[in-house]
Amino acid sequence: MNKIERYSQLAKQVEGLMTGENDVVAAMANMAAMIHNEFGFWWTGFYRVVGGELLLGPFQGPVACVHIGYGKGVCGTAWKERRTVVVPDVEEYPGHIACSSESRSEIVVPVIQRDRVVAVLDIDSRELGTFDEVDKEWLEKIVLSLPQFDMAESEIYLAAGCFWGAEKYLKLIEGVTFTEVGFANGNTENPTYKEAYTDQTGYAETVHLRYDPRVVSLRFLLEMYFKAIDPTSLNKQGEDEGTRYRTGIYYKELSDRPIIDEVMAAEAKKYGMPLQVEVEPLRNFYAADEYHQDYLDKNPSGYCHLPVALFDLARKAKDHNKSR
Ligand code: SME
Repeated sequence: MNKIERYSQLAKQVEGLMTGENDVVAAMANMAAMIHNEFGFWWTGFYRVVGGELLLGPFQGPVACVHIGYGKGVCGTAWKERRTVVVPDVEEYPGHIACSSESRSEIVVPVIQRDRVVAVLDIDSRELGTFDEVDKEWLEKIVLSLPQFDMAESEIYLAAGCFWGAEKYLKLIEGVTFTEVGFANGNTENPTYKEAYTDQTGYAETVHLRYDPRVVSLRFLLEMYFKAIDPTSLNKQGEDEGTRYRTGIYYKELSDRPIIDEVMAAEAKKYGMPLQVEVEPLRNFYAADEYHQDYLDKNPSGYCHLPVALFDLARKAKDHNKSR
C-alpha cells in the first residue's frame, strides 16, 4: 500500500473510533496511538491550548517538553500562524524545540474548531524529510474527527465612538454574554467620564465584551463591529469628535491578534485605503460610572450616534460560519 492508501484506510478507522465519543482526551489518546502505530513514527501526540500556552497532551513516544509558548518552536508557530508546518530537517528550522535529539523531521497540524486553534498534533520522525503535502492533507482531515473541545468564555474590548450606542448595538449580538462601558488604553489612573471628556487622558470610550465562542466567533463579532463604525475616520464617529471617540480593537489574548489582522486586512481592501482603527493589546480599562452602563436602555430617547436600523441588524445576526 502506498502512503495515500494507508492514510485513507487510517482516516476511516479513526473516524469509526471517534464516532459517539465526546471526551477529547480519550479521543486524542486513541488518535495519537493509531497514527503512531500505523506509520511507526518516533513521537506522535497533542499539545492543547491551555491558559495562553501549549500544554502537553496525550502522546505516544518518549518523554516530551510540557510547555510551549505562543509562536515558539514548530508547535507554537503552527498555533500562531494557524497553519500546518512541515519541517524536513529540524536542524534547519530556526527556533525548533528539541525535546529529543533523535528527531530529524517534523510536522505540526493545528486543530481548529470554531475558528480557534484548540490544540496541535505534532509528529516527529527519526528520518529526514518524512513529511510532505500528503501527510499535511490527510492529517488535517483526520484531526477534524476529534470531538468538540470545551471553550471558555472569551473577551474583547471594542472602541466604536460614543459608548452608549456602541454598547447597545454590541450587546444585541447573539453569543455576547456581558458588556460594560469604560475607558481603555489611556495614561492616567482611574479616569472619570469628565476627565476622559477633556481628551487629555488618552482614553478611548470602549465596550468590554464577554462572549461565548461556541455561539459567536471573534471574527464574526469584529465583522459586526465594522458595520457600526466608519473605520476610515480618525477620532470622529458620527458627530462625536476627539481622541476619546477613536475606533480601536484591544485584545488580551495574543492568539486573537492574527484573526484581528485578517479582518482588518479584509476591511481595508473593501475601503481601498488604510484604516484608522487602532489595534493594540489592552493596556488598561476602567469601567465608567453606573450612569453610563446600559445608558440607552435606561434612557431610550437618549443621544445615540448609530442609526436605529443597526440595532435590528444586530438582533437578527447569526454567526453561521462559527465552525470555519
Ligand atoms: N519540536 C517541537 C516540540 C515538541 S516535541 O517535538 C514533542 C517544536 O519545536 O515545537
